[in-house]
Amino acid sequence: MATVTTTDTPGISRREFLYYIWGSSIVLITLQATGLLVWFLLPRFREGEFGGTFTLPVDTVPPTNAPPIPNSAGRFWLSNLNSQEPNNLMYRAEGEEPIVGVVAIYKVCTHLGCIYDWNGPNDRFECPCHGSKYRLDGRRIQDPAPRNLGRFKFYALNENEEVLAESASGPDGYEPLILPPETVYIRIDTGDLANGQTQVLLENVPPAN
Ligand code: FES
Repeated sequence: MATVTTTDTPGISRREFLYYIWGSSIVLITLQATGLLVWFLLPRFREGEFGGTFTLPVDTVPPTNAPPIPNSAGRFWLSNLNSQEPNNLMYRAEGEEPIVGVVAIYKVCTHLGCIYDWNGPNDRFECPCHGSKYRLDGRRIQDPAPRNLGRFKFYALNENEEVLAESASGPDGYEPLILPPETVYIRIDTGDLANGQTQVLLENVPPAN
């Protein structure tokens, strides 16, 4: 008489199959989240990627304490500062010396390199990535930015494009330059960038009386 033998069928059960699908989905989602986090944290833009000299008519400078004017090709903002005039854009903080003159501010946030923008209704620069805020002259109002914004070397030129005056190097990078009356052109050297300093956040300093 023939005997019947039974053997276990190789393979996986339906329950095991569902476990595998579930496990694979978790791994996939984790990888995607990690990729997004890395992308978010990486600098968008590396310093020194560009450089060049921009010579512009003096009327490209904004009026004193008016909103800054961007230059996309040069990746800078032009700000015309006077903290001695009462105003919202260039208010003077307690303990600050008067700040007067024109600066060319690097368009890249000092935190992780995002391109920030001017927020007109709030009268300040604001970075969309992690919320740093800066005053019209580039000084930090709110972190996580570790430093004030960088500034480029700046020149005032006469009608023959001869240098009349140039921005001096100071604790906060290149100091604002008061334009001589004979100025016809300005020149910004985007190959010459000076980093801003780490000052007390302006949100922790009351305005000067
Ligand atoms: S890059 Fe983080 S606040 Fe600007």
